[in-house]
Amino acid sequence: MTIAVCPGSFDPVTNGHLDIFHRAARHFDEIIVLVTGNPTKTSGLFSVEERVALIREVTRDAGNIRVDFWGGLLVDYTTAHHVTALVKGLRSSLDYEYEVPMAQMNRRLSGVDTYFLLTDEKYGYTSSSLCKEVVKYGGDVSGLVPDLVGEAMREKFR
Ligand code: PNS
Repeated sequence: MTIAVCPGSFDPVTNGHLDIFHRAARHFDEIIVLVTGNPTKTSGLFSVEERVALIREVTRDAGNIRVDFWGGLLVDYTTAHHVTALVKGLRSSLDYEYEVPMAQMNRRLSGVDTYFLLTDEKYGYTSSSLCKEVVKYGGDVSGLVPDLVGEAMREKFR
C-alpha cells in the first residue's frame, strides 16, 4: 500500500491545491492531506480545525483522499503512519527554491522522498495569501478557490 502526504498550511485550500491532491491520488493508493500548524494557536485567517473541515468538505467525493493535522515535525508523522512519499505542487522557480531544502532535509531526517507535480498553468498565480488579500478588499476569487472556501473567506472579512 502506497501512502503519500500532501503537507501544507492550507490557509485556506485553493483550487491549485485541490488539483495537486487529485492528480497525486491517481499515483498512490492513499493520499493524506496534512494540515500543519499548532491547533491551539490562531495564526492565520482560519484555525487548523477550520482548514481541516474545509478540505474534508471539498474532498468528500474522493475515495482515497483523507485529511489530518499535525503540529510537529513532518517526518515524525510520516514515519509513524508508514508514509512513503510527500507530494507538493510547484508553480515557479520561487517555489522550487523554497521546497528543495525542505525536501532534502526531510529525506536526510527520515528517508522519505518528495515528489513534485507542476501546477496546472491555470493556477500558476493562485496562492492562499493572494486570494485572502483579494477577498479582503472585496475582489472576486471565484474559480481560484472552491465556492465554499470563497464564502468562508468573505464571512471572515465581513
Ligand atoms: O504551506 P506551506 O508553507 O507550503 O507548508 C510548508 C510545510 C507545512 C510543509 C512546512 O512548513 C513543514 O513541513 N512544517 C512542519 C514542520 C517541519 O517538519 N519543518 C521542517 C521542514 S524541513
